[in-house]
Amino acid sequence: MCGIVGYVGGKQAGPILLEGLRRLEYRGYDSAGLAVISPEGRLSTVKEAGKLSQLEAVLQEGMPPGTCGIAHTRWATHGAPNRLNAHPHWSRDRDIALIHNGIIENADVLRAKLSDLGYTFETETDTETVVHLIDEAFRENDTLDDAMLAALEQVEGAYGIAVVSSRDPDKIVVARRGSPLLIGIGKNGENLIGSDASAVIQHTKDVVYLDDGDCTVLTAEGYRVFHMEQGEVQRSVQKIEWDLEAAEKGGYEHFMLKEISEQPESLRNVMRGRLLEETGDARLGGITLSDEELAKIRRIIITACGTSWHAALIGEYMLEELAGIPVEVEYASEFRYRSPVLEEGTLVLAISQSGETADTLAALEEARARGASTMGIVNVVGSSIARKTDFGIYLHAGPEIGVASTKAFTSQIVALALFTLYLGRRRSLSILQGRELVAALQKLPDQVAETLELGPVTRELAAEYGDAQNFLYLGRGYQFPVALEGALKLKEVSYIHAEGYPAAEMKHGPIALIDENMPVVALAPRDSVYSKIVSNIEEVAARSGRILAVVSGDAPELIGKADHVIQVPQTVPALLPVLTTIPLQLLAYYAAIYRERDVDQPRNLAKSVTVE
Ligand code: AGP
Repeated sequence: MCGIVGYVGGKQAGPILLEGLRRLEYRGYDSAGLAVISPEGRLSTVKEAGKLSQLEAVLQEGMPPGTCGIAHTRWATHGAPNRLNAHPHWSRDRDIALIHNGIIENADVLRAKLSDLGYTFETETDTETVVHLIDEAFRENDTLDDAMLAALEQVEGAYGIAVVSSRDPDKIVVARRGSPLLIGIGKNGENLIGSDASAVIQHTKDVVYLDDGDCTVLTAEGYRVFHMEQGEVQRSVQKIEWDLEAAEKGGYEHFMLKEISEQPESLRNVMRGRLLEETGDARLGGITLSDEELAKIRRIIITACGTSWHAALIGEYMLEELAGIPVEVEYASEFRYRSPVLEEGTLVLAISQSGETADTLAALEEARARGASTMGIVNVVGSSIARKTDFGIYLHAGPEIGVASTKAFTSQIVALALFTLYLGRRRSLSILQGRELVAALQKLPDQVAETLELGPVTRELAAEYGDAQNFLYLGRGYQFPVALEGALKLKEVSYIHAEGYPAAEMKHGPIALIDENMPVVALAPRDSVYSKIVSNIEEVAARSGRILAVVSGDAPELIGKADHVIQVPQTVPALLPVLTTIPLQLLAYYAAIYRERDVDQPRNLAKSVTVE
């Protein structure tokens, strides 16, 4: 949830750290700070509550000099979001500074132990315990890295930690367990650390993703990685696919609109090189199972959170309909704590844009512990979930910076369609059915581009309905998860309360809510349940509900019943969710603009929920 960046090399660290924080601000933003070691070995720390701009204003007065430093943007988990609780935290002699992303689960025990040793605490945070532990460990150890390793043996919980000290200057020591951290391998005698690639790609595209248990000593000359159990280890260098431009807004007012608009391209990327027209099949290099091993898959459990969980529901419909495999979808936060029965032949599939969602990672680890084979559908290359699974499919959707997930969602649906094709063609799906799905996938990016032209219409609807206090989204079959996703988008960026419902459930309660103050978005594309959803729309119209119907192709039956009809192109039922979700993304975006919300960084939310 927080953003971490560090620099050691020949340049002044301050400006580089600040630039890195700007690229990480979407990860969490209620306070920020930095620590730099001066050429004389003095450790300076500056931190401020509020957005990054607050820290920038203070630094205008004077940037601490030095070529080695660390910086942090915070999304509070323990302790109010104020300057005192902002990171970096320092030792009592102000000669060690530490930043942290994660949760120290035994902080209370450590506080008591350190208090008994005479340490006093200035903040309410769990993080402060670690900097005092390192201080204490320095009594028995000569180097910052040894002191860090000794201290971390007492720490329980999830962390991505970076530390500098004037007692052992010119190095940054980092450790990762449960929260993402990478090394950026610079050129010309400089190296960096970051929570993700955005923090370092302005300086290098060569990165090393650290694993849980890794502790790294970073200097201008190089780095060494030590695993707490395995000792010194080698980690592979990965090349970042994204350039700096991709992580910028690209001329759009918000990342969210940029990413909505990128969907034709992101869908081309997820399909690139993976469609086999002739055989009506998919080529998935990341699926390393043999056909015999694939044939042994008897059941698939898909686990995810939020928008990714909505994509999982669509995957359930596809895989059962087209690959003939039983599928269950589980909230990761529920799966990780119940006692799931994972018999022989069960595949657990984790879907995650960030690849760092704590609940999804924990659910995956639970599945592995129970002997299930595991797969990931992930966007961020080298992320924890990607590395924890036996095999998987990368989305290659590019960085998704806006907190509200948009292009990742449609890419997840397409990745699931590719997986369905791959499995189905090794089971009962015929070559003709496969070719039909391949043809529909090939047309999809252009159809999405056509659907994006609905921007002005949805902007008008957002102005007309933007003062509503509640919305209802209704869908059936493949469109039920789209109803859930549309409601989530509206909630999280405009703060209007919205609920998604299976349309047939209306008569079991929600229809009591319908009146002229309750806008109803009905997903009514031309599929096998179209006539049923038309009946539901009639029920709502009969009770003065105001209806925005999303249809595919013509819908003469809705004339005089729906107040607004939004038309998207026609495609096969399994891919219709990609098209029907676009106007809902746009509606949510423009409703947020209408209500003057912070679209890319909605209140209380973070892009990657890396704590429970
Ligand atoms: C989606 O708009 C939300 N920001 C959130 O629900 C998100 O989908 C969820 O936290 C899962 O994230 P992940 O895909 O990175 O695991």
